[in-house]
Amino acid sequence: IMDGNGRWAKKRNLPRVAGHRVGLESLRAIVKECSQLGVKFLTVYAFSTENWERPKEEVDFLMQLMGESILREIEELHKNSVRIRFLGRIDEINPAIKEKIAGAMEKTGGNTGLNLQIMFNYGGRGEIVDALKKIVALSKKDENIIIDENLISNNLYMTNIPDPDLLVRTGGDFRVSNFLLWEIAYTEVYVTGELWPDFRKESLMKAILDYSQRSRRYGRI
Ligand code: IPE
Ligand code: IPE
Ligand code: MG
Repeated sequence: IMDGNGRWAKKRNLPRVAGHRVGLESLRAIVKECSQLGVKFLTVYAFSTENWERPKEEVDFLMQLMGESILREIEELHKNSVRIRFLGRIDEINPAIKEKIAGAMEKTGGNTGLNLQIMFNYGGRGEIVDALKKIVALSKKDENIIIDENLISNNLYMTNIPDPDLLVRTGGDFRVSNFLLWEIAYTEVYVTGELWPDFRKESLMKAILDYSQRSRRYGRI
């Protein structure tokens, strides 16, 4: 959860959008680092379904930044064999950006390196609602369908992606803000007060080190 861009900018007397620009540099650094470390799946919260409630100028900026960044970064990501997926209610996004998203997903669809999920116009509850709609449609075709956890997991946006081992939130707030509600049932949570634009390689290593010292019990002793 890449949080704290606005506060980062405010501390420097800059407009909030300046924080988003530098935040993008952090994302680039973290993607590169995860790629090199051999991390298989990285999922980032880029824009929530609630973020539409922000001032129009900020929303417009974030949308435009996403469009520009796809064009600017895609070749390098592709060269590094990163597979990019944009997950969320992508249908509701402006057509020009949607087209860039589709292009990036198609171009990198066969890559076998880091799987990068960019959660965009994403909400965890919305994801569950959308899964239920798919399941209801399936159950009309097949009355004998067995409703179990696997069926729900397989109808989320995050299909064929394992549940995350580690959730990192920057910016110091101890909440999940509607991110991956179903998928994080047994995820280890790490909150750092560091703001996202400051979160770079060393910060990631700290989070991973912290994670490596946890004991995951899954309800057992
Ligand atoms: C995270 O930073 C980026 C998005 C939510 C798009 P914020 O913009 O939420 O920054 P703060 O939390 O206000 O500092
Ligand atoms: C979560 O951050 C959403 C993203 C990082 C995209 P927010 O800044 O929107 O979350 P709240 O408002 O602090 O819960
Ligand atoms: Mg925030």
